[in-house]
Amino acid sequence: MKHLLISLGLVVVAQTSAQTLKTLADARGIHIGAAVTFPGSPAVYDTTLNREFNGIVCENAMKFGSIMTGENSFSYTGADAIVNFGVARGMFVRGHNFLWHKQMPSWFSSTSYTPSRDSTFRMMKKYINAVMTHFKGKINEWDIVNEAVARDSVGMRPGTGAFAADQNSKWALLTDAANHNYDYIDSAFAYARRADSTVLLVYNDYDCEGMGKKSNMVYNIVSGLKSKGLVDVIGLQCHFYVGPSTSGSNGAWVPSELVTNFQRLAALGLRISLTEVDVRIQTSPAPDAALLALQRDGYKTLMSICLAQPACKSFFTWGVNDAQSWVPGSFSGYGVALLFDNTSSGSPATFTRKGTYLGVQEALLATTNLRGLRANGLRLIPLDAHSRGFDLRGRNLSVFPYNPNFVIRKSITSQHKQ
Ligand code: XIL
Repeated sequence: MKHLLISLGLVVVAQTSAQTLKTLADARGIHIGAAVTFPGSPAVYDTTLNREFNGIVCENAMKFGSIMTGENSFSYTGADAIVNFGVARGMFVRGHNFLWHKQMPSWFSSTSYTPSRDSTFRMMKKYINAVMTHFKGKINEWDIVNEAVARDSVGMRPGTGAFAADQNSKWALLTDAANHNYDYIDSAFAYARRADSTVLLVYNDYDCEGMGKKSNMVYNIVSGLKSKGLVDVIGLQCHFYVGPSTSGSNGAWVPSELVTNFQRLAALGLRISLTEVDVRIQTSPAPDAALLALQRDGYKTLMSICLAQPACKSFFTWGVNDAQSWVPGSFSGYGVALLFDNTSSGSPATFTRKGTYLGVQEALLATTNLRGLRANGLRLIPLDAHSRGFDLRGRNLSVFPYNPNFVIRKSITSQHKQ
């Protein structure tokens, strides 16, 4: 596609299709990234990543179950490969994630693992300290707690009981969360802040991008954390669908609500990262042109909303190409949710860009808000740049002497009670 721009008698031919997402995003201060499982397999995967993205995150390799193989053992091989790939290319590297109710190591999820509340906090601190120390200087922002609020706006994810087993959180169970106002969340952030004060700390969740009960609960969590200086970024996963509605509330796409929610989150002083973007559509029956156009417009609108909100700094898709996406395996009958399809061409080969890609490219080209060049490589943030950090007993984290046996927790208050 060629655009003719006529200005002061000069004719400038802009070859829009030659501008990669990375080039455009760099100039607009946006981190455009992708979740990857293993760069280098196939080689085309690397080529596309190098050309199109200035950000990267491990799809699975940095999760609790992948990293902490035993109560005293850690395995970093898979995560190192991806993180080092990103660092070597000056990418914005996201860490994903520390505390989640899924993909736990088997020693932790085992019903015979029942440590006391105190021991749980000690283990949590050991885990966070070890992993943050291992990656020191390489990770820009890190999802500390993932999906603490349950789906369908029911409430905080409980320790046991309310849902199918895999919806409950063992972290909530072991810390007796309901009786202690979910202080495991605050504590995880406090341990992380203390382990590495240069990393931006993120609370990450889904189905809270627009307005609604779950979004309000997430807002309350991050505003409480922010007032203690413990969180820097809200991570909005953005697993959306467009087209005929499905049962359940997951992924409803209401763009006007996003604008409103982004505004109130930005007003808290938080950065906003879109962390796991994909826009799924029905694949059976095969999508028609109208549905594909709706999906393309969805991507374009989401990027436009991010670009229009100065606090929104990152737009990460959850995968690179459709064949490696988690969507078909998790949402039966849905797929083709990403920016690239599965065919490759050229030398070196690259994945084929889809309409969704062109939608994102159009949004980037259309913005007049050039926020300045994205700084290459790591942007380390000194502790002083944060608001003062306090532990959950109100002590200033930066001056309180480090005591390896100290367990951070708070007394029962009505804060966060839902
Ligand atoms: C998914 C991965 O993509 C899959 O490969 C894995 O089997 C399950 O987890 N929210 C998250 C991500 O925070 O970690 C999930 O990733 C998708 C939903």
